Amino acid sequence: MSHQKPTSRLLTTLLVSLTLLLSPSLALALPAPVPAEPSSPDVTKLFNGLGHIIVLNSTSYSDASLSSDSIGCLSDAGYVVTASSSSDCATFSTSITSYPKTISSKIGGCSFGNQAMPTNEDSRYGARQHAWSCNEDPAMVPEGERYYTINGFKYPFICNGNLNCYYDIPRAPSSKEEDSKGDKVVVWQYAWGSEQMGITPGHLQVLWMWVPAGKQGEDGSAVKPF
Ligand SMILES: *[C@@H]1O[C@H](CO)[C@@H](O)[C@H](O)[C@H]1NC(C)=O
Repeated sequence: MSHQKPTSRLLTTLLVSLTLLLSPSLALALPAPVPAEPSSPDVTKLFNGLGHIIVLNSTSYSDASLSSDSIGCLSDAGYVVTASSSSDCATFSTSITSYPKTISSKIGGCSFGNQAMPTNEDSRYGARQHAWSCNEDPAMVPEGERYYTINGFKYPFICNGNLNCYYDIPRAPSSKEEDSKGDKVVVWQYAWGSEQMGITPGHLQVLWMWVPAGKQGEDGSAVKPF
């Protein structure tokens, strides 16, 4: 009997480690900030209600900067467009009853589930993945496609699925004139693997940052990008 105790303790430890590994919010929890830094707000409180989604050209959620990395924002249809003021950016809403959340624009629910959107042909792993879009048809949002941010992030960067916190775009938007034409800048999931370790060659790896619209975050720390 006595020899079983260490075993079960080991099992418990393994289970706890596994739970930590599998839980997005815990697995990415960052170490406590060094005392000199101001403490970060709980960004999960900011990813709530209405907001804009700013696109940052960054490969690092810890170093990304709104002022130097912002290259645009997302439109009502789900494309990346140039942003000189918040009126250029769609106002999205999150479902408030559940976490992780769904995201909708005034058109409808947003997802990677619309088979009519282009696939990421240049990507080794994304050739069958469709671009993000917002659609009137609720069936375009697959069951289980949900969005969240992570307490410990400096800003409310939006992740989905199993820690997909980066996205793949073919290029930055260049002008308002171009935004209104046919050749729009779409967003794909960032898909990588042993045969393509980084972003699709020629594409940009980006973050989505939620900026609450209207109401401030609960702790009053909403970031003002414009
Ligand atoms: C995006 O970031 C990369 C890496 O820092 C940089 O080389 C590139 O010029 C940037 N592109 C745009 C459009 O900002």
